[in-house]
Amino acid sequence: MNVPNHVAIIMDGNGRWALERGLKRSEGHLEGSKTLEKLAIHAINMGVKVLSVYAFSTDNFKRDKAEIDYLMNLIVKYFNTKFEKINKNGIKVVISGRKTNLRDDVLEAINNIEEKTKDNSKGILNICFNYGGQEEIIDGAIKLAQDLNKGLDIKNFKREDFYKYLYHDLPPIDLLIRTGGELRVSNFMLYQMSYSEFYFTNTYFPDFDKSEFNKALFMFENRDRRFGGINEKNK
Ligand code: IPE
Ligand code: IPE
Ligand code: MG
Repeated sequence: MNVPNHVAIIMDGNGRWALERGLKRSEGHLEGSKTLEKLAIHAINMGVKVLSVYAFSTDNFKRDKAEIDYLMNLIVKYFNTKFEKINKNGIKVVISGRKTNLRDDVLEAINNIEEKTKDNSKGILNICFNYGGQEEIIDGAIKLAQDLNKGLDIKNFKREDFYKYLYHDLPPIDLLIRTGGELRVSNFMLYQMSYSEFYFTNTYFPDFDKSEFNKALFMFENRDRRFGGINEKNK
């Protein structure tokens, strides 16, 4: 099987999943967090090297304080407890996003999980938290400008060279999945998705289990990726 190297998921639909069951939105987030744990282990076991997930966007600060607080508490609780299993499975966790506007206990939990899993080598789980795609490009451009001031020669600077100015030097995204039915990218990894294949599903994230994930992998196998060129059979 031709397994994508880097899969990215916009984990959307937690709120609607809960409301349709007469539950509070927060219960959808809790259920979604359980789905993520299972999915991360499954994806890496299937041979995916990097799994990026959108957990909280810079724009999600527009939500009610109670929902934001719930999500912040959930990430702290998760990083401090449930992630043992991810650690045991040899997965390295990295966090992408701005470190501003975050509570001290959230920052501490982020540092802990990155530190605890840093030597793991089976695969990478990149959690995008307080993350924006345009923000990542701006922050990278600022770092590049600083290097320029220090004398960096950019005469032959190529698009591949910009990856190391992003939050983490990860490979381009091969497969981008969005659950929850919306057909948009909502400011997710804009630089890295330039040639990714898109898979949209109406399934809400809490219900996006291993078999749903495998459907996306099968679809990916049959995509004709051309990267601007022409495949042999069409010449
Ligand atoms: C995605 O689910 C998770 C976050 C944005 C934190 P939503 O909370 O956006 O769920 P819907 O889209 O309202 O159903
Ligand atoms: C994208 O979902 C962000 C995350 C999944 C964390 P949103 O629910 O915030 O996106 P919009 O508002 O539908 O574009
Ligand atoms: Mg949403």
